[in-house]
Amino acid sequence: MNMTLKDKNFEVYLSRSEVKKRIHQLGEQITRDFQNKEVVVLGVLNGSFVFMADLCREINLPLICTFIKLSSYDGTMTTGQVRSILGLDSDLKGKNVIIVEDIVDTGISIEYLLKTISDHHPESIAIATLLFKPEAFRFKYAIDYVGFEIPNKFVVGYGLDYDGLGRNLPDIYQLSTPLINSIKNV
Ligand code: IMP
Ligand code: MG
Repeated sequence: MNMTLKDKNFEVYLSRSEVKKRIHQLGEQITRDFQNKEVVVLGVLNGSFVFMADLCREINLPLICTFIKLSSYDGTMTTGQVRSILGLDSDLKGKNVIIVEDIVDTGISIEYLLKTISDHHPESIAIATLLFKPEAFRFKYAIDYVGFEIPNKFVVGYGLDYDGLGRNLPDIYQLSTPLINSIKNV
């Protein structure tokens, strides 16, 4: 099924039923890995809100669900980017933390989160992401819980946006490849 957001055309890439099935498996895996432990699940807003809601309900553990947001703005530093974590109000010292992301692309966001959260001295930190673009990822480590590895193409839906739109779509859509042969209608 095709869909348009602003100036771009998208097609369904992962259906809601495929996503549901995979999240059930991830929840089972996390439940097994953290048996008898309390876990703090940190959802990264805005994109993770749908995945977070579904994943948490598939985890059968004592769970603290909370959200953070990453601010990023251009600064005058040489890196060009200054970041901070907003809304981190839980005490993470000695806790088992799982960071929940919608997508890991270059990995720059998750790298920053890992560094900053480890300063709070948790017992452990894991990453759960619904989508992962291995071709774009700039780091060497493995991501603990990956829903789907996807090609390096823009996706929307299920929490992910294009220019603020599309987060409410129940399926995941991928940018359509333009028809090279569109001249055929002339
Ligand atoms: P990273 O820091 O490059 O890994 O980017 C992570 C963030 O970029 C995600 O949390 C998303 O908000 C956004 N992002 C990356 N790829 C996509 C995409 O294909 N669709 C929508 N948002 C994306
Ligand atoms: Mg995000």
